[in-house]
This record gives sequence, structure tokens and C-alpha cells, in this order.
Amino acid sequence: MKTVGILGSGIVGQTLGEGFIKYGHKVMIGTRDTSKLSEWQAKNGQNAHLGNTSETAIFGDILVLATKGTAAKELIASLDAKSLEGKTIIDATNPIADEAPEDGVLKFFTKEKSLMEILQEVAPKTNFVKAFNTIGSGFMVNPSFESKPTMFIAGNSEDSKKEVGEIIEKFGFEVEDMGTAKASNVIEQLCILWCIPGFRENKWNHAFKLMKA
Ligand SMILES: NC(=O)c1ccc[n+]([C@@H]2O[C@H](COP(=O)([O-])OP(=O)(O)OC[C@H]3O[C@@H](n4cnc5c(N)ncnc54)[C@H](OP(=O)(O)O)[C@@H]3O)[C@@H](O)[C@H]2O)c1
Repeated sequence: MKTVGILGSGIVGQTLGEGFIKYGHKVMIGTRDTSKLSEWQAKNGQNAHLGNTSETAIFGDILVLATKGTAAKELIASLDAKSLEGKTIIDATNPIADEAPEDGVLKFFTKEKSLMEILQEVAPKTNFVKAFNTIGSGFMVNPSFESKPTMFIAGNSEDSKKEVGEIIEKFGFEVEDMGTAKASNVIEQLCILWCIPGFRENKWNHAFKLMKA
């Protein structure tokens, strides 16, 4: 069973970490301050590990990126390239700017390129797969919607997308592969749409579904 290194200690990192542990993986969460995760570790038993971000990148056969969007590039650049080389990174981040949303519409700090395309350039030998960025943290692992929600993914490596697709199906979603890293720009934009009912009406309990005739 592959080990999972999660770079990011917020609600997304903790939720996905718990999900991977549920399916039998050993998980390490990487953070600048492990003390804030002692409760998460105690709750999740012997497969739950904590470390700094460098230790976590080395630990994981598969990595998950779940930091604040504005911190993602610097974090990836700070890691030893050898610890990332050839690995799949599930990229759950969104490039949300520090400015407030306007009429419920979030602002991004990215322009033509997606955050994932930027990260892919910083670590070209790593296989980024955009996923889990268009669903709220409370619904990331086996959510109970009226029907199976869709998770859109994108990335340059077919093998990595296959690997991530299998994980996503276990986590209770249908997978829709939208193609290469280029498509991650559109998938990141979906986060803006997903958040609008939340900011406007405090409704955060929905998911995307691709209907097919
Ligand atoms: N919340 C959701 O429901 C949701 C859903 C889908 C996607 N996302 C995306 O998933 C990512 C994580 O979201 P989140 O809500 O779990 O947490 P968050 O509050 O956006 O980010 C927390 C993480 O970012 C790191 N971080 C923050 N500032 C940093 C800095 N200056 N330098 C280095 N690291 C820094 C923290 O590191 P330390 O542990 O070292 O403090 C922590 O690991 C975001 O990109 C978000 O847009 C969120």
C-alpha cells in the first residue's frame, strides 16, 4: 500500500489524510508547526504521522498539495527536487487572492496560467493532477449526495491520472478527465462558481455533476 505525504495541514489536508488512512494508507501531514495536529494524530491512530514539509515529501509515494494557494509555489520550490521526482501530486489548491470576494465572486491571483501550470513548471519532473479543488472539505470523502458527484481532473501524465482516478472513485466520485495541465485553469475557475452560493446565501452543501444523455 502506497504511503501518502500531505503538504498542507488545514481542513483539506486533515480530511484527505483521514480518507487515505480509512483506506489503509500510512499518511504523513507536513506543516511548519506539528503541535497543532496532535488531536488529528491521536484521532487517526498508528498510520497518522506528522513531519515538516521536507520530511513529508520524502515520506510519500504519492503526495497531496493542500496549502493556501498563495503559499504553494514557494513551498514546492523549497523542496528537494529529488523528493518530488517521478511522483504523483494531487493538487487540491486554488489560487485565491487575499482580496475579498465581490458579489460572492472570488478573486484569483493567477491570470493566463493556472496555479497548477505554474507549479508544474517549478517541478517539471513531478506529475501534478488537479483534483479535489471543486468540492468543500466536508464532502471530499464518500459524501452522501442524491447521486454520485463528478470530480474533474487534469494533468500531463496519463499514469498519474489513472492512479488518482482510482483514489477518487474509492472516495465516492465519478472521474472526468479533462486532459492536460492546460485544462487545470478551467477546473480552478470552477472553484469560484462553487463558492458563489456559499458567499451569497451561506450554502456550501452542493457538488458538480456532469449529466450525460
Ligand atoms: N477549505 C475547503 O473546503 C477547500 C476545498 C477545496 C479546495 N481548497 C483549497 O485547498 C487548499 C487548502 O485549504 P484549507 O482550507 O485546508 O487550508 P488553508 O487555510 O487555505 O491553508 C492552510 C495551509 O497552508 C499553509 N500556509 C499558509 N500560509 C503559508 C505560508 N505563508 N507559507 C507556507 N505555508 C503556508 C499552512 O501551513 P502550516 O501548516 O505550515 O501552517 C497550512 O498547511 C487551499 O488552496 C484551498 O483553496 C479548500
